[in-house]
Amino acid sequence: MKNVRVHLGERSYTIRIGADALGDIGKVCQRHFRGARAIVVTDTNVAPLYAGKTLASLTAAGVQASLFRIPAGEASKSMRQLSRILDKMASLRLDRGCGAVALGGGVVGDITGFAAAVFLRGVPYVQAPTTLLAQVDSAVGGKTAIDHRLGKNLVGAFHQPIAVVSDTSSLKTLPEREFRAGLAEVVKHAAIADPRLFSFLEKNEALILERDEGVMGRIVASNCRIKARVVEHDEREAGLRQILNFGHTLGHAVEALAGYSSELLHGEAIAVGMSAAGRISCAMGRCAPGDVERLTALLDRFGLPTNMEEPPGLAVLKRLLASDKKTRRGSPRFVLMRRIGEVEPGIEVSPRLWRGALAG
Ligand code: NAD
Ligand code: GLY
Repeated sequence: MKNVRVHLGERSYTIRIGADALGDIGKVCQRHFRGARAIVVTDTNVAPLYAGKTLASLTAAGVQASLFRIPAGEASKSMRQLSRILDKMASLRLDRGCGAVALGGGVVGDITGFAAAVFLRGVPYVQAPTTLLAQVDSAVGGKTAIDHRLGKNLVGAFHQPIAVVSDTSSLKTLPEREFRAGLAEVVKHAAIADPRLFSFLEKNEALILERDEGVMGRIVASNCRIKARVVEHDEREAGLRQILNFGHTLGHAVEALAGYSSELLHGEAIAVGMSAAGRISCAMGRCAPGDVERLTALLDRFGLPTNMEEPPGLAVLKRLLASDKKTRRGSPRFVLMRRIGEVEPGIEVSPRLWRGALAG
């Protein structure tokens, strides 16, 4: 078992990473939920796979837990599902000593974290991520949200979990496409902050795609360390944390264009967005072409898209980017590459470069 600590003063917490880590979730919750009661929020795909193991561990540790399912998929990051979760929390009469467990991917993690942030003005919650994307990214850092019809993640709060329990064995049941989409966030962390991790990914493609337990444990832990160090410096995204949005400016635009549907998963959209940001960095003379080629080659080897065959017109892109949270005074900001392992946030980019960069 590997432990990564996120140092945030009184909001500090530990990320436990390892095969069968879910078996320990009861002990973790018992330590943190004084009231010894919990709601376990999960989705309809994850429930039959991991709810039994989670509830057994909670019960064995003396934590009285109620399971609550939401439909699987991005559409569940909605006001309707939030309201259902809050109704359940209220009917269980949870108090501030009780808590929530988010058992699932980024969708379950984001909405459960948000429900925990607003219920009784804040109750504790534990992230138990079961997708690669959630283990390396969304479960760490305290960003919680639901979507709004005018934009993704428009309604949310910063609310740190009190612990993260990442069971790397759960990666084995992930559908292939979801696993590969998670690899996009792994490549993102390496590209923004860790050239050694980037080389490790290049050298270990086969073991990674086989989901080798040892290699995946190491990858999840290094990604959590990278994210933890960034969040420790800038919890509320006033500066440094913006680097985690590498690939997200155009990535969110293409994700919105696909209607947040299974046509394009979040990680796939970010892979297109990172490749486009790399090409823009190159066109603006900020990064050597060789580094951008390494980035797109690695994404390609992981089976991720790196361009759009038919990018939308400029007017559509402008409209999509206008509702992005990274847009300031009407002008979208980009995180651009300097080299593998180093990026620069907050850069304005001429709209004439956007469309061509997406096309590749
Ligand atoms: P997801 O939660 O929809 O999970 C993907 C699919 O895999 C779902 O169908 C789910 O039911 C299924 N699944 C989950 N675990 C499984 C397992 N172990 N075995 C089999 N199936 C499993 O999607 P995601 O990719 O995990 O997360 C995407 C969401 O995360 C988006 O809403 C995005 O905005 C959000 N996100 C948040 C942050 C943050 O910092 N809060 C960062 C990145 C992404
Ligand atoms: N996934 C971006 C962030 O947590 O800031």
